[in-house]
Amino acid sequence: VAIVGYTNAGKSTFMNWITKTKQETNNSEFTTSSPKTAAINYPLYDKSGTFLSFEKMTFTDTVGFIYDIPHILIDSFLSTLEEIKYTDCILLMIDISERKSFEEQIIVSGKLASLGRFAAGIAHEINNPLASIRLDVERLGKQAVLAKDSQNILNTIGRISRIVNNLLKYARGQDAVLKLNCIDSIISSSLELVREKFITEGKQIITDFKCSNVQVYSDFGQLQQVFLNLALNACDAISNQGILKVETFCRNNNVVIKFTDNGCGIPKKDLAKLFDPFFTTKASGTGLGLSISHTIIKNK
Ligand SMILES: Nc1ncnc2c1ncn2[C@@H]1O[C@H](COP(=O)(O)OP(=O)(O)O)[C@@H](O)[C@H]1O
Ligand SMILES: [Mg+2]
Repeated sequence: VAIVGYTNAGKSTFMNWITKTKQETNNSEFTTSSPKTAAINYPLYDKSGTFLSFEKMTFTDTVGFIYDIPHILIDSFLSTLEEIKYTDCILLMIDISERKSFEEQIIVSGKLASLGRFAAGIAHEINNPLASIRLDVERLGKQAVLAKDSQNILNTIGRISRIVNNLLKYARGQDAVLKLNCIDSIISSSLELVREKFITEGKQIITDFKCSNVQVYSDFGQLQQVFLNLALNACDAISNQGILKVETFCRNNNVVIKFTDNGCGIPKKDLAKLFDPFFTTKASGTGLGLSISHTIIKNK
């Protein structure tokens, strides 16, 4: 917290909120254009107290703003000392970066919670008609001439059923079932699911597994879903003849799993939003792949 006071003697005094020292600057460094706003050449210090530069900053008592130093958000309140002169004021600055990041977390978890309810609702609605279709098809399949067709339909129903149940599991935030799995085999099984898609689109997957036979405690199905999402995103990001490279290697007793593609890349401004549910830059994207993957990895 910093309090800036502007004195009658033409000096502004303030407690620097980082260095916690009292400072004085002369008149020219602090001006007010109206009772509600003030500009100041504010000396910026880094956390260790080293002087960085003077920054011209404008404050109002109604609008919070983003401080020019990364990671520090400031809320400022300006009140004028009416009884003296309109140019005299007290400026209160509060570091609100923690509060902001907490607010963002709440928004994300709120979105996830409503997404969960939405998914559970849909999955439930689909499961019932699916069960009745299954019964009908099983009955039809008893006629020899329809046996083969009905088996095909039953296989497809089985597939839809699995997808819906996965959705339900996700909605319920199913706990991971951790077992010792060979990391290569989880990755390979995920890549197997997208191999055909890559080939048809003229794209390539290269693997370089340096942790062969290393086993890690993991939920096979959940990790498979994570790798599948990464591979699908890579496939979307690369053009014809693009390459997805998947590597594993050991570092400090950990296994590092690296997915690299030579596609369009991710603009810096999007990085902070990547794991938000529904964040997508694709016309037909859902924006759920990375959000689900993030939840899975965090729950470990
Ligand atoms: N490998 C990648 N290359 C470029 N952008 C990516 C990559 N992976 C993810 N993204 C970006 O992140 C966004 C969110 O990804 P995701 O959560 O999987 O949702 P979706 O794929 O449905 O858009 C994508 O829309 C895209 O902008
Ligand atoms: Mg995706």
